[in-house]
Amino acid sequence: MAAAPREHPNVVVFDHPLIQHKLTYLRDQTTSHRPFRALLYQIAGLMVYEATRTLPTAAINVQTPIETTVGRRLSAKVTVVPVLRAGLGMAEGVLEVMPEARIGHLGLARDETTLRPTVYLQRLPRDLDAGPVILVDPMLATGGSASEAVHILRRAGANDLRMICLVASPEGIRRLVSDHPDLTIYTAAIDRALNDRGFIVPGLGDAGDRMYGTV
Ligand code: PRP
Repeated sequence: MAAAPREHPNVVVFDHPLIQHKLTYLRDQTTSHRPFRALLYQIAGLMVYEATRTLPTAAINVQTPIETTVGRRLSAKVTVVPVLRAGLGMAEGVLEVMPEARIGHLGLARDETTLRPTVYLQRLPRDLDAGPVILVDPMLATGGSASEAVHILRRAGANDLRMICLVASPEGIRRLVSDHPDLTIYTAAIDRALNDRGFIVPGLGDAGDRMYGTV
């Protein structure tokens, strides 16, 4: 389902046909906000299977209608943290698969001129160290927003962190891997480059605007 580029062992690129099929619709400029939201939600639900493969579980006895047996349950509190706005659409898809997850919110806006992120909202559970934290944001462009988000989460106590995005640039991957070498990054694509406005090329445009119809 997924492969790591040789130069970045902590980066997992999803080559699953369903994910690539849906990503192609997301890239299509004629896809309007309603199907865009639905596709983002569906892809996040598919990606979360791989991103949660290493979650800790504990053995527990369960009484079936026939006999008692041993099953497994998640043994840590999982927190999903979407980066607003576009991460919200992915978080909903993750919750569909993992409804017991908690949600923390980070609002980051990238300045269009400097391309630097500003934090405008931070609402996180107090005990972020109680389990894995999954950061979700569809776009990894310069990597500034994701890197800042990881710094914030670490300062807030997170010690088991992974990130799910949809489309990454080579520059964004390099920045994030360099700033946070122990972070695992899951993405559906690593695109060719960033343009001079900091947009991923070919990319899919501004995910937040396309998702909410604010283009
Ligand atoms: C986009 C995107 C990321 C960020 C990526 O959000 O969703 O959060 O930019 O860029 P970077 O890697 O260069 O930091 P944006 O700031 O446009 O906010 P929005 O989701 O509200 O549109």
